[in-house]
Amino acid sequence: MNILVRAHSGLRYVVLALLIAAIFAAYSNWQNGKRKDAKVYLFAMIATHTQLLIGLILYVMSPKVDFKMISEKIYRFYSIEHIFMMLIAIVLITLGRIRSKKLDGPDKHRTVLYFYALALIIILVAIPWPFRELGASWF
Ligand code: HEM
Repeated sequence: MNILVRAHSGLRYVVLALLIAAIFAAYSNWQNGKRKDAKVYLFAMIATHTQLLIGLILYVMSPKVDFKMISEKIYRFYSIEHIFMMLIAIVLITLGRIRSKKLDGPDKHRTVLYFYALALIIILVAIPWPFRELGASWF
């Protein structure tokens, strides 16, 4: 359980780095009229899906997920807010990639740019950063 929490916690930086790299790549490919997919779009999606997988296991096992304690901030965050926002973000990333696959020309990269950028904002809001006092650390 502890190993899973540490992996899930550390992987956040991989997710953030890959999403930012994908967003920059999408912008530059859009502006430069590139036709081909960038590999980083796929890697960013794989990283978020890995978080989803670990997150689902944690959701079942974690003592911080408890609907009887929902009136308390920390339990409410992990039981509802964290999973809800992360699921929306992961759906956006997946949809963005699937849509972009079907498109050609500048639309392809612009689709990745918009979907991934929106997902990145949601993920940044949904991460239990230490300053939010949700019982989580930086790593
Ligand atoms: C991109 C997606 C995600 C990111 C970046 C992320 C990030 C994090 C971070 C940083 C923590 C705090 C770890 C710590 O204590 O230091 C955390 C905890 C947690 N996450 Fe996620 N998460 C993501 C998706 C999900 C999803 C989809 C679920 C559920 C299906 C989930 C379930 C949990 C649970 C249950 C905890 C609390 C674990 C515990 O301390 O007992 N996460 N997450």
